[in-house]
Amino acid sequence: MPVLEFEHISKRYRSLFREERWALRDFSLLLEAGEIVGFLGPNGAGKTTAINIAVGLVHATSGSGTLLGKEFGEVSARRRVGFLPESPAYYHRNARATLKMCGALNGLREPELSRRASQLLAAVGLDDEAERNVGKFSRGMLQRVGVAQAFINDPDLLILDEPTSALDPISRLHIRRLLLDARNRGKSVFLSSHQLSEIELLCDRIFFVQAGRVVAAGSTGELLRSSEACEITVSNTNGLPASAVDIQRQADQTTFTIPVSEQRAAIEQIWAAGGTLIRVARKTKSLEEVFIDVMNGNSGERTP
Ligand SMILES: Nc1ncnc2c1ncn2[C@@H]1O[C@H](COP(=O)(O)OP(=O)(O)O)[C@@H](O)[C@H]1O
Ligand SMILES: [Mg+2]
Repeated sequence: MPVLEFEHISKRYRSLFREERWALRDFSLLLEAGEIVGFLGPNGAGKTTAINIAVGLVHATSGSGTLLGKEFGEVSARRRVGFLPESPAYYHRNARATLKMCGALNGLREPELSRRASQLLAAVGLDDEAERNVGKFSRGMLQRVGVAQAFINDPDLLILDEPTSALDPISRLHIRRLLLDARNRGKSVFLSSHQLSEIELLCDRIFFVQAGRVVAAGSTGELLRSSEACEITVSNTNGLPASAVDIQRQADQTTFTIPVSEQRAAIEQIWAAGGTLIRVARKTKSLEEVFIDVMNGNSGERTP
């Protein structure tokens, strides 16, 4: 059973002056259990709208969807979901009391409530700030309270809208550990982010969204290997194919790049010329290159 499913969801916002804006258009996406899934796309692509529809904060104009098997908007599923909104805001209370209040609202009771709060404050690196008023917290500190709050009831599904956008590197590492640990315990995570290096380190699968639609998707490994080029290293320079580019010579080795479709012919040509093959590898792309290719509409990836 999918943990989260959007089926042909469209969302239209209307402004005061009746100007219309479609934040989502026929948006479909399916999330399987036990994965960390990244949601990538430029500002205004519709990520926050989709997330807010899933947790019941915004109603879709058309289409439907399920959260842990329940129709969007059904309250019973929310208890098993941890949610971090895009801009978390809290009452003026200390961090520990804030977490305990969220836990209590989710049905946690003492002594479990205090134990979970302490454990999570330490996990996000806020144990020394636990008794300070969150009203005085920096944006990054608030975001860490928000992540801790999302974890308080040990949810089966975490939905996090840009969890690491304001974080320093150490805090980012704390959050990464929390999320990987949750995944290893069979939990599912759905997060939006602009931090491509973070997504690359964390996510098993990535959905790219542009102008309110999913435009590409794939496992992270698959997407990074999606280059159509291959790099070959040989022991001499005889028989280099005409299409070789990026040729680099070092001592008695030569490395060059050719299209994958010509790999076989190139290897045969090198052997025929008496050369020795040292290494053949598919070139990988950075997630930034994949992102730009997808957004320019020339990813060559399957669209879901
Ligand atoms: N409450 C709202 N009223 C009007 N337009 C909105 C509202 N919320 C979002 N939008 C518009 O919907 C589009 C998608 O926004 P959003 O879902 O926040 O994108 P993202 O999170 O990917 O940056 C944007 O064009 C945004 O201006
Ligand atoms: Mg957003």
